[in-house]
Amino acid sequence: MKTFFTFSFFVALAFCVSCATSSSPSQYEAFIQCLEKYPIPPSAPISAVLYTPDNSSYSSVLQTYIRNLRFNESTSPKPRLIITALHVSHIQAAIVCAKAYNFQMKIRSGGHDYEGVSYVSEHPSFFILDMFNLRAINVSIADESAWVECGATLGEVYYRIAEKSNVHSFPAGVCPTVGVGGHFGGGGYGNMMRKYGLSVDNIVDAKIIDVNGRLLDRESMGEDLFWAITGGGGSSFGVVLSYKIKLPRVPPTVTVFRVRRTYDANFTNLIYRYQEVAPNFPDELFLRLTLDVVNSTSGQKTNRATFRALYLGSGKDLVSLTKASFPELGIEQKDCIEMSWVESVLFWTDFATGTPVDALLSRVPQVLYYLKRKSDYVKRPVPKAGLEFIFKKMVELEFPSLTFNPYGGEMGRIPASAKPFPHRAGNLFKLQYATNWNESGVEVADYYVNLTRALHGYMTPFVSMNPREAFLNYRDLDIGTNDNGRDSYREGLVYGIKYFKQNFNRLVNVKTAVDPQNFFRNEQSIPVFPRTTN
Ligand SMILES: Cc1cc2nc3c(=O)[nH]c(=O)nc-3n(C[C@H](O)[C@H](O)[C@H](O)COP(=O)(O)OP(=O)(O)OC[C@H]3O[C@@H](n4cnc5c(N)ncnc54)[C@H](O)[C@@H]3O)c2cc1C
Ligand SMILES: *[C@@H]1O[C@H](CO)[C@@H](O)[C@H](O)[C@H]1NC(C)=O
Ligand SMILES: *[C@@H]1O[C@H](CO)[C@@H](O)[C@H](O)[C@H]1NC(C)=O
Ligand SMILES: *[C@@H]1O[C@H](CO)[C@@H](O)[C@H](O)[C@H]1NC(C)=O
Ligand SMILES: *[C@@H]1O[C@H](CO)[C@@H](O)[C@H](O)[C@H]1NC(C)=O
Ligand SMILES: *[C@@H]1O[C@H](CO)[C@@H](O)[C@H](O)[C@H]1NC(C)=O
Ligand SMILES: *[C@@H]1O[C@H](CO)[C@@H](O)[C@H](O)[C@H]1NC(C)=O
Ligand SMILES: *[C@@H]1O[C@H](CO)[C@@H](O)[C@H](O)[C@H]1NC(C)=O
Repeated sequence: MKTFFTFSFFVALAFCVSCATSSSPSQYEAFIQCLEKYPIPPSAPISAVLYTPDNSSYSSVLQTYIRNLRFNESTSPKPRLIITALHVSHIQAAIVCAKAYNFQMKIRSGGHDYEGVSYVSEHPSFFILDMFNLRAINVSIADESAWVECGATLGEVYYRIAEKSNVHSFPAGVCPTVGVGGHFGGGGYGNMMRKYGLSVDNIVDAKIIDVNGRLLDRESMGEDLFWAITGGGGSSFGVVLSYKIKLPRVPPTVTVFRVRRTYDANFTNLIYRYQEVAPNFPDELFLRLTLDVVNSTSGQKTNRATFRALYLGSGKDLVSLTKASFPELGIEQKDCIEMSWVESVLFWTDFATGTPVDALLSRVPQVLYYLKRKSDYVKRPVPKAGLEFIFKKMVELEFPSLTFNPYGGEMGRIPASAKPFPHRAGNLFKLQYATNWNESGVEVADYYVNLTRALHGYMTPFVSMNPREAFLNYRDLDIGTNDNGRDSYREGLVYGIKYFKQNFNRLVNVKTAVDPQNFFRNEQSIPVFPRTTN
């Protein structure tokens, strides 16, 4: 074993020295030729899915799944090739040939990565393996499960479940255009997390194509690799083709509300009380809080709180529950709307009331922004004086919003090592810092990114420390990068501990075993272990 790792370390080094130099034209042609020569069924010619920059459709294929306009600039690095795989053999060819000709593969499913890691790179010879054509969804209500290909969107998953049953669901994110591939690979959370945990807590099988081009399922990949690709980020380990998910039951009628409060004499107390109650509600209630800044009627900038609820039960029960435990919010029957679970998905993503459910099948987001996101974990309520300080700073900064996602419930009962996602018991909230803007340009982006970082900075006394934890699906390159995998373990440790805490070591073990030459690498991939000293 030792000799093996030592050897592969040197191979990886040699490999990566050449990463720094752009591939020669002949190397590029050889890569394309390799793809064209790969044994592929005649019914699925690979030439039909290859987009080089001189193809007239190249730009539109590239832009179709760019979900952060910050990476849609003319200065954003562009892939040498896009492969819109239609068949497993296309993925196998992409892996085998990219490995042989030293091209970096970026795997893109829904393209929602906050830092564009699935479609931009500083590597001079990178290409995109685009998964959007591979999006079959097979729901079996009899088995209360479904096989879902990674190019599917969450909206498609929800729609296909609801098409067959109004009492089955899936716990995943609230934005319907998010892709299954990145979302499940990175954990996946949504408004049923307190009841059913994360997406990955409900995954029972998977299919992956490994670095040697082999198609493996849970049994043939083994429990370590299966564990790693259910929360450790699929892209460090292979190309995930599909996941098999369990479909938890929900009542035929659920209840939602959205209420807003602006700053007044009771505001601080309201937000403080929210922190005490939200992580301790019954598992059926998820109450999200978003703080932002708006112009008051008198034209002054002021703090605003938006509370949005999903309750897996009736409006009547929700009113009595909140009256008993959170009277300060003043929820009345008139605030509550009863609907089916799938309609609640539309409500949560801000579709107008009455929008037909098939809006979930649209792969085009309602709105696209230039954006920056960051995350944090809260383990003790932010004290009232701290809240007052943050409210003032938010008014100064104006643009970043701050969302509290309550933990507790099932999230606190699942062991921290069950999945690579480590943020379980002991957390009250996951925070999301979000800034959206509308103008292109690097200086403009710097300005808004700085504001986001500033709010994150002001929160330092109130959030987790050593490590300052972060959520992989809220990709944030500020917390460290491994410079495209050129090194390795030491750099990977920096962001790895924040995303995975004590699970990082096991991820590195799995990575070293399944991809010792670090072919599947990106700005924040799991590194291989450094050479062991003899
Ligand atoms: C509007 C919006 C709302 C969001 N809401 C939520 C939310 O409610 N809850 C939540 O948890 N997250 C949320 N996210 C974050 C989201 O879960 C992550 O960005 C997720 O990675 C997106 O998946 P994707 O397939 O769309 O992304 P991509 O950009 O395609 O991929 C993200 C990462 O996964 C890798 N990857 C993708 N597909 C595969 C594959 N088949 N095999 C191996 N690796 C793969 C990519 O290489 C990349 O590293 C949201 C993001 C946005 C933009
Ligand atoms: C672009 O690529 C597609 C898919 O391979 C192909 O069908 C089409 O003919 C190409 N177009 C051009 C202009 O090369
Ligand atoms: C992305 O950039 C291209 C090229 O500048 C532009 O045509 C396109 O409209 C942009 N996409 C969005 C959604 O703004
Ligand atoms: C879905 O079912 C069809 C028909 O049985 C099968 O060909 C396909 O491979 C299945 N897809 C998935 C993702 O399981
Ligand atoms: C604050 O709450 C108290 C008691 O609930 C209420 O009487 C008062 O009107 C509230 N003040 C403001 C400014 O809303
Ligand atoms: C508030 O008003 C100012 C000036 O009218 C405007 O520039 C700003 O964009 C507004 N802010 C918000 C959050 O609406
Ligand atoms: C972006 O522009 C749209 C349309 O003008 C506007 O509705 C929206 O509020 C703007 N968003 C931001 C973040 O400025
Ligand atoms: C953003 O912050 C950096 C570092 O503090 C600074 O150098 C830069 O000038 C800032 N940019 C803007 C546009 O404020």
